[in-house]
Amino acid sequence: MEVLSVASEIYPLIKTGGLADVAGALPAALGECGVKMRTLVPGYPAITAQMSGGRDVAHFRDLFGAKGRLVAGRVSGLDLIVLDVPALYDRPGNPYTGPEGWDWPDNWRRFAALSWVASELGLGLVEGYRPQVIHAHDWQAGLVPAYVKFGPSQTLKTVMTVHNMAFQGTFGADIFGELRLPSHAFSVHGVEYYGGVGYLKAGVECADFVTTVSPSYAAEIRTPAFGMGLDGLLNNRSDTVFGVLNGIDTEAWNPATDTALVQTFSTSTIQNRRVNKQALREAFGLDDSRGPLFAVVSRLTWQKGIDLLAANIDMLVADGGQLAVLGSGEAELENAIRNGAQRHPGKVGLVTGYNEGLSHLIQGGADVMVVPSRFEPCGLTQMYALRYGCIPLVSRVGGLNDTVIDANVAAVQAEVATGVQFAPPTEAALADAIRRTKALYADEKSWKKMQRRGMKSDLSWQLSARRYAGLYASLIGLETDDSE
Ligand code: ADP
Ligand code: GLC
Repeated sequence: MEVLSVASEIYPLIKTGGLADVAGALPAALGECGVKMRTLVPGYPAITAQMSGGRDVAHFRDLFGAKGRLVAGRVSGLDLIVLDVPALYDRPGNPYTGPEGWDWPDNWRRFAALSWVASELGLGLVEGYRPQVIHAHDWQAGLVPAYVKFGPSQTLKTVMTVHNMAFQGTFGADIFGELRLPSHAFSVHGVEYYGGVGYLKAGVECADFVTTVSPSYAAEIRTPAFGMGLDGLLNNRSDTVFGVLNGIDTEAWNPATDTALVQTFSTSTIQNRRVNKQALREAFGLDDSRGPLFAVVSRLTWQKGIDLLAANIDMLVADGGQLAVLGSGEAELENAIRNGAQRHPGKVGLVTGYNEGLSHLIQGGADVMVVPSRFEPCGLTQMYALRYGCIPLVSRVGGLNDTVIDANVAAVQAEVATGVQFAPPTEAALADAIRRTKALYADEKSWKKMQRRGMKSDLSWQLSARRYAGLYASLIGLETDDSE
């Protein structure tokens, strides 16, 4: 089975968040299920720099007004098809914004081009290559299902995965004329969204299957509170909406072999984490302390509930607690943490910016990973934490709900707890959870047991990859041994 994945970022080449991790890990996991997955990605500088050994497989003289080509090649174990269009993608900054953090004004064109090319690949643009299914990720690939639906193919199938409802790619109606879609595509059954053009809406409307990245989020987004305008649409097609939990790349995230750690460890050498904790304290300017070291590795945004944590810093550091935050994002949230660090020198540390290596050291050295999200489609940091013996403290939403077992009385007695959950996402509920976590930490023996349990939990892609393979197969009328 040939599937073309379309993603706007992919680990290890370019990453702003969990989407890159997922797009990077899925092809290998699917390979084990008999699915051959190639990935179409934009030719950002970080990607084209890696493609020197690639083959030109197509040329465009006028791709939405620009010249470009497709380069196919294998990089870091990934089969990539790179859309090299310098006028659209050869820019500084991250995949979506310029160096100052503003969205590129022509993002509608940059990602329409990506999606249009995907649909052309599905129609056989490149000789010898014809995917049966196109798997589109997030709004940047949201037009793929629309191009397929309004195009000539009767057989090509599409899957749309929503990694985050909060990012929908909505633009004014004035762009429609340039999208290379027939005029009847500007309708409620196409790309039209509240009078403008909605890329994610188009994907959710036109794809054969819609998936999202955890079962809980799949249920949540059918409600107005989480659906962000698309709940009605999802309810109308609820029999073709699925929640497929993300896995993690257990090779890239393996505490027994991780070169970013000062000291590697496994379930039988958990005490080695102490060395990482010491290095972490140095990196964040923290003193020695007996209390638990809480940590955050996150985009600093409202979604992630960072304000709730900032409001609890004083109580967190009381009686020996410490906090290390790695993240970047909204200035106000960065400042709130920075103020906490100034109020409590040696107890609270902030490192801003993006630092992959440090994020691993944090997982391997901190005691608690705090993820107080207001909504969380899946969340990967709490899964990395589980694997690294760092106890997750999470709000009870989305994928956080599906991956962490709260240390309530019953779960502790049954010896199944792997972390701490709290709800609703409020300052007071988080304060209570921090207190509860400190009490659990004080019982060294059962804390260690909980760490081991987390490290042993199955976080791999195996089950979910089978689920995706089953969905693709059912779309193209293949039988699989997938019993779900
Ligand atoms: P989201 O995709 O919503 O940001 P996830 O938890 O799914 O949340 O994925 C976040 C990913 O980005 C994880 O791999 C996490 O380790 C990484 N990450 C987030 N912020 C940073 C940072 N400042 N430095 C390094 N890695 C980060
Ligand atoms: C999004 C979500 C996050 C999820 C990631 C990968 O960025 O915010 O919860 O883990 O996508 O699916």
